[in-house]
Amino acid sequence: MTDPRIVTAAKVDEDVQYEAGLRPRTLDDYIGQERVRANLQVSIAAARQRREALDHVLLYGPPGLGKTTLAYVIGQELGAAVRATAGPVLERPGDLAAILTSLGEHEVLFIDEIHRMSPVIEEVLYPAMEDYELDIVIGQGPGARSIKVPLQKFTLVGATTRAGLLTAPLRSRFGIVHRLDFYNEVDLKEIITRSARILNVPVVDGAAAELARRSRGTPRIANRLLRRVRDFAQVRADGAITEKVAIDALKLLEVDEHGFDEVDRKLLRTIIDKFGGGPVGINSIAAAISEEKDAIEDIYEPFLIQIGFLDRTPRGRVATALAYNYFGLTAPGRGLW
Ligand code: ADE
Repeated sequence: MTDPRIVTAAKVDEDVQYEAGLRPRTLDDYIGQERVRANLQVSIAAARQRREALDHVLLYGPPGLGKTTLAYVIGQELGAAVRATAGPVLERPGDLAAILTSLGEHEVLFIDEIHRMSPVIEEVLYPAMEDYELDIVIGQGPGARSIKVPLQKFTLVGATTRAGLLTAPLRSRFGIVHRLDFYNEVDLKEIITRSARILNVPVVDGAAAELARRSRGTPRIANRLLRRVRDFAQVRADGAITEKVAIDALKLLEVDEHGFDEVDRKLLRTIIDKFGGGPVGINSIAAAISEEKDAIEDIYEPFLIQIGFLDRTPRGRVATALAYNYFGLTAPGRGLW
């Protein structure tokens, strides 16, 4: 994705290179998401003891929270190789069949954005997941017949920002399903401190906490802010990230105390000013702020909802009193009857 926002949770090109270096390799190194971690630890240990392939795993939640990282961690903990692909990349059934037939026993196939896989590809995946088999149709018309090709027992790890968009048959084939939540500030601070250590940049506690507060509950954003603040510390100070350096750098980056930027403010302001605070439909918001509906739903909205600035109701989005207060406004009274 090519979102230019510094606080976008979407992956930008620069993240790819850095995330690989900062990524935790084991469950022990993985910070936060305690419930998911504890459950995976049990599932993986059990599969290893039984010398079986781990059940298929579906990870869902907002972007930037570590779904891809977890997929590689799962591979590492299983002692198995990970093959990675993504829903939109798989165009023809043969693309997926080629990958599936090349997997070794107990290896991991990671499919990112699995909700964007086409229906014909999904059809290939069903018998592969269920019976470790490929159903290949040879020929056409009345003479067509199907042959079954056995596969090694593998583990599919699927990741999606929108579990609701998965078809029921696909979803039901995952034995292990986990939702990743936004991180709390304590965990984010630990992630920032760990990343700073790896990047070899001194950061004081207060500065790490300030970055954590402005990272929208998202490690990808935390690590990105850390890199930008590191630049500032190097050019405008002596290289160390003190609290003052962090605050001055974040001011220059126009990242406010909630980690909001122009897009967040525009989104909230539009609902308040143009739509009387809502409820307003997502399509109307998208048109009014010239952003894509999917990006609003996947990237901008989840965090605003999480921190209570936005409500999603059956009749549309509503700006909450917190959103009004943020702009120094008073929310209109909403009668209870
Ligand atoms: N870097 C990104 N996400 C992380 C996590 N959950 N734990 C440790 N380091 C991380």
